Amino acid sequence: MRIISGIRSSGHLHLGNYFGAIYSWLDLQEKNDCFFFVADLHAITTPYNPKKLKEYTLQTAIDYLSLGINPQQSVLFVQSTIPQHAELAWILATIASVGELSRMTQYKSKVKELGTSAANAALLEYPLLMAADILLYQAESVPVGKDQKQHVELTRSLARRFNQRFGPAFTLPTALMAKQGFSIKGLQNPEKKMSKSGLAKDCLFLTDTPQEAQKKIQAAVTDLGKEIKYDPEKKPGISNLINIYGLLRKIPIQKVEQLFAQENYRGFKEAVSKEVIKVLEDFQNKREQWLRYPSQIEQVLDEGREKAAVVAQETMQKVREKIGLF
Ligand code: ADP
Ligand code: TRP
Repeated sequence: MRIISGIRSSGHLHLGNYFGAIYSWLDLQEKNDCFFFVADLHAITTPYNPKKLKEYTLQTAIDYLSLGINPQQSVLFVQSTIPQHAELAWILATIASVGELSRMTQYKSKVKELGTSAANAALLEYPLLMAADILLYQAESVPVGKDQKQHVELTRSLARRFNQRFGPAFTLPTALMAKQGFSIKGLQNPEKKMSKSGLAKDCLFLTDTPQEAQKKIQAAVTDLGKEIKYDPEKKPGISNLINIYGLLRKIPIQKVEQLFAQENYRGFKEAVSKEVIKVLEDFQNKREQWLRYPSQIEQVLDEGREKAAVVAQETMQKVREKIGLF
């Protein structure tokens, strides 16, 4: 199956990105034809620092590699190095309605957050760029979090509309949803998802030192009582840690509860820290290796761009012919 997915370039990845996105990509790349990219054109739709953007884009690419995205198996590239993304987004804008774009949940919440005068027009077009990302590569399946499902559904209906109006050009994609259990909550704010835009103490970055990670986990909000019991409603803090531990050890939640039936919060948090640190250390060792050879990273991204360009150009040529451009 042809698969595509990406994450906006905005610095280092955190444990939520790992379980919510890359973790499923690692499995998918074993048996599918995968394209993974760093979405720098998406990153510039909200306020950002142009002096830092390239660095963040590279960091995200290095994080993909260090988590195990294998350039021998998958095509890894930077979105803005393929000009067809922006080109196709423009063409899709001619078949999308302002109404359907302004109904998108993410658009509405971003406008609410930024205010109408600060929110740029690209926020409205964001789903069209994402549709272009997907349709250019004729992807059948798009692994995304719950919040992006609506955008993939819009992509599918745009593809269908285009095919009906101009003749078949695009494969209809479907969203491949991460399982509910792969959603990681904030350490300080376990009602909300772990996010880099929250408090630093809320978020376990993969680049955190073992000491930093341990401190954040020990300081994680827990709940009344002292049992290690999974109950996301009444005990969201401890349930989040149980979930993280289970995912890291690849064991079910009930098994975690059994293992720690006699343990107190402090002891359990120590066990969680130990497992988190194993992942961080493994990631950081791999990252060190990649950082030692910056030219290899460049080569991976160059080769990825070349492979992606072939597919993108082919689709774009078809689109141009169908709609009557030179
Ligand atoms: P952030 O919220 O930190 O800005 P993004 O929105 O850039 O993260 O998300 C990038 C990818 O990581 C998406 O596929 C998203 O579904 C996934 N993701 C982000 N945060 C989490 C989380 N806390 N739990 C699970 N998946 C997450
Ligand atoms: N919009 C996605 C997010 O915010 C990132 C993204 C951009 C994406 N283009 C994509 C994901 C194409 C999957 C496919 O997380």
